[in-house]
Amino acid sequence: MTGRIIGLGSYIPKKVLTNDDFASFLNTSDEWITERTGIKERRISDHLNEKPSQMAIEAAKRAIEDAGIDPKEIELIITASTTPDMVVPTLSCIVHEAVGVSENCGCFDVNSACPGFIAAFNAAQGFFETGHIKLALVIGVECLSNFANYSDRGTCILFGDGAGAAILRAEDIKRNEFIMRSSGARSRCLRAEAARQPDRWNEEGFRESTQFYMNGKEVFKFAVTEVPQIIRDLADKFSFDLENDVDYFILHQANARIIEATAKKLGIDRAKFPMNIQSYGNTSSASIPILLDEMKRDGRLKPGMKLVLASFGGGLTWDANYIVY
Ligand code: UT7
Repeated sequence: MTGRIIGLGSYIPKKVLTNDDFASFLNTSDEWITERTGIKERRISDHLNEKPSQMAIEAAKRAIEDAGIDPKEIELIITASTTPDMVVPTLSCIVHEAVGVSENCGCFDVNSACPGFIAAFNAAQGFFETGHIKLALVIGVECLSNFANYSDRGTCILFGDGAGAAILRAEDIKRNEFIMRSSGARSRCLRAEAARQPDRWNEEGFRESTQFYMNGKEVFKFAVTEVPQIIRDLADKFSFDLENDVDYFILHQANARIIEATAKKLGIDRAKFPMNIQSYGNTSSASIPILLDEMKRDGRLKPGMKLVLASFGGGLTWDANYIVY
């Protein structure tokens, strides 16, 4: 059996931060950000009522309502986040209580930076394929504004906050086909140290090292090289045609230029690569489920469509999936 997406939901914080807002305190401009990233604005958590756990709960409730299921029947919750507000309990356990799931349910979180939602999705598929569960809730949620360095114009302008969730149900459809890749050796270009290391609090530069550091150029090169390659390898491995057998390519929303370069390298019409980065920026592990939810609500996504999902980010890690929606 395969876990098919039967419900989607998302939560986007209310506060909008525009490119002009950044230009009011940083040496940047709407023109530069739009041209180099495609981003016009992003949403930022209020950090009080829009903590990651709260955004995850709201996205989960919306996905449950969309699927029309009884939350008591959910047997597995996996939440992907690099920026959780709680270490213990897991965000999955917090959602578990809030949405009224029974105790007959496994809960755990994963951290795989931007590809976190796909890592959680693939982990859940293992439970479906072995026949252990019939219904799962998979969430991607981030509060990147807690980790952004707002004096570094090269990174802070990219990030937004938000959550996306999917309900998966066991169905006898094409199995989830995927490739996952990683390079620990290339990890240095995207990093943040854990803040809770009290013995190091007085170390020079420690505070800054707990904020996101990114070598944008390196990450950009990595993405425009590896993402088209892994998508090509996916098509070869599972014998499908990129031009004719895929309705949409749902890529992690990190930079419009990365998405455009991928479409160009694969020789596929750019219209098959939907984007919402202009409104939400890079929401890391939440970007793919937020985009899927938006596409379902505006009617672009229809049951039976064949999708390639692809994500990339810190680790470095990258992956691609071929699924039936
Ligand atoms: O989610 C996972 C992974 N993250 C990504 O995928 C991000 C990948 N990288 C990128 O998206 C791009 O590298 C950035 C958007 C971060 C940067 O764009 P870029 O075209 O690679 O710019 P750059 O870093 O090469 O910088 C070019 C110039 C520099 O000035 P000089 O040295 O040429 O004088 C930067 O200082 O642009 C300057 N710059 C800016 N100028 C205005 C960098 N950030 C800004 C800014 N506003 N916000």
